[in-house]
Amino acid sequence: MALERTLSIIKPDAVAKNVIGQIYSRFEQAGLKIVASKLTQLSRAEAEGFYAVHAERPFFKALVDFMISGPVAIQVLEGEGAILKNRELMGATNPKDAAAGTIRADFADSIDANAVHGSDAAETAANEIAYFFAGTEIHSR
Ligand code: PPS
Repeated sequence: MALERTLSIIKPDAVAKNVIGQIYSRFEQAGLKIVASKLTQLSRAEAEGFYAVHAERPFFKALVDFMISGPVAIQVLEGEGAILKNRELMGATNPKDAAAGTIRADFADSIDANAVHGSDAAETAANEIAYFFAGTEIHSR
């Protein structure tokens, strides 16, 4: 399996629940390294830009409103097969469908407040990482 990087966002609902550390532990226990990290409040323009691919979807405004409703914790995760590994840790988009023991099953309340985001493919991961982090902010060890 290839060494990969993926973008992870701990969304406002999970930050408000004070579970950043518990989610970080899951990454580390799965062998993913946190090689960049920041706590920030997204502007509307930043959130709209990040989710631009979903601009025509009916939930777009609700998604942006939610993502700017409080601070988010954004990470770059690095490891073997990091993109798929993180998606597995996250669980299904709708927490009702998420497998037991996944982040969304344990920490998310609904499809519109679903605790975490993770890149879904290599190309999106590269674009999403560059959207939030300069190369100098990523520290591979
Ligand atoms: S995915 O994971 O990208 O395949 O899921 P997708 O269904 O394409 O959804 C894209 C993002 O939109 C969020 N989403 C919603 N937000 C608010 N309300 C509703 N109904 C809704 N449905 C989907 C979903 O959590 C995805 O956000 P991210 O941050 O990419 O996980």
